[in-house]
Amino acid sequence: MTETTHPILLFGATTATGAACLELAAGRPVVVAGRRPPQGWPGESFLAIDLNGTSLPSPEALPENALLVSFAPIWLLAPFLAALHDSLGGLGRRLPLAAVVACSSSSVITKRFAANREDRRLVERLLHSEDSLEATCAKAAIPCRILRPTLIYGQAGDRGDQNLSRLLQMMRRLPLLPLPAETGKRQPIHGRQLAASALHLADSAAREPADSASLRIALGGDETLSYTTMLQRLQQAARQRDPLDRAGRCRLLPLPTGLFHLLAAPLLPITAKGFEAVLRMEANLAGFTPVHSLLGIEPEPFPVAPLAWHPPSRSLGES
Ligand SMILES: NC(=O)c1ccc[n+]([C@@H]2O[C@H](COP(=O)([O-])OP(=O)(O)OC[C@H]3O[C@@H](n4cnc5c(N)ncnc54)[C@H](OP(=O)(O)O)[C@@H]3O)[C@@H](O)[C@H]2O)c1
Repeated sequence: MTETTHPILLFGATTATGAACLELAAGRPVVVAGRRPPQGWPGESFLAIDLNGTSLPSPEALPENALLVSFAPIWLLAPFLAALHDSLGGLGRRLPLAAVVACSSSSVITKRFAANREDRRLVERLLHSEDSLEATCAKAAIPCRILRPTLIYGQAGDRGDQNLSRLLQMMRRLPLLPLPAETGKRQPIHGRQLAASALHLADSAAREPADSASLRIALGGDETLSYTTMLQRLQQAARQRDPLDRAGRCRLLPLPTGLFHLLAAPLLPITAKGFEAVLRMEANLAGFTPVHSLLGIEPEPFPVAPLAWHPPSRSLGES
């Protein structure tokens, strides 16, 4: 069977990564599943599924022998798929999937020893969901690949990230940005690179024996750079696009580590998570599989275009 005969069942299509996935999968049969379709997506290729809801889709509504690719929260996908597997089993049917590729997060590694409870709970939730998804796929004899991406950025269609776009916005608002003298490493991955990896893994997993071992892959961009260099590259890109963009003119101010901690300290009683997020600027959140080695292509330096220049209206933190 050639890979193009498998339809793609896509969750999380309304993220920037999902939009990039739709662009990359153009010409292939795709069914988008979720609470709402991306703008302009044809109704006949949309399956209304609330991963948090109680109702399951009817077996007839599901595409046959599909590659399930998900950029939705894994803690919603895992129980949904387990419930669907059990419900179909009750009808004497099986999950009509040829492979499952789902996004977890590198936070499962990097926030393992976080000082705040919220982050440690996130790690537990991610690990539990990864285990559960693997168990369902093992029961159903479906090859399973779990991606643990780090900092996702970039624009696809009308969708942009909520990470680097927020840093650009902050640099636009501030005349100077205090930073610790030594910042930690980052390995940001563009949504298009993540989408290409997910499709690549889905296609290759579908060619593997049904009982092939599941894989968990921590995935990053091709370039590892310090947090400060990442900001400088963003500033460079902003100046190239628009010399008047104030993000390009914000002064990055390296401070001695002790002084930086002192400045951040007032955050601690207000938000322990926020305080730790500021201190994380000094942590190395890198060392993941570079996307080019997974795809077997030339490495792409940071930043990969297109960037999201402004954050979307709803905002989330770096994960
Ligand atoms: N952002 C990062 O830096 C980062 C880092 C590591 C891992 N990740 C993971 O990478 C993936 C993409 O991240 P993101 O930040 O771009 O996306 P996100 O903000 O976590 O978006 C989640 C996606 O899941 C869909 N979704 C949420 N609840 C749903 C429900 N109840 N039923 C059906 N669909 C639902 C959303 O659709 P609607 O809201 O449109 O319905 C949206 O398309 C996620 O799996 C995330 O956990 C993200």
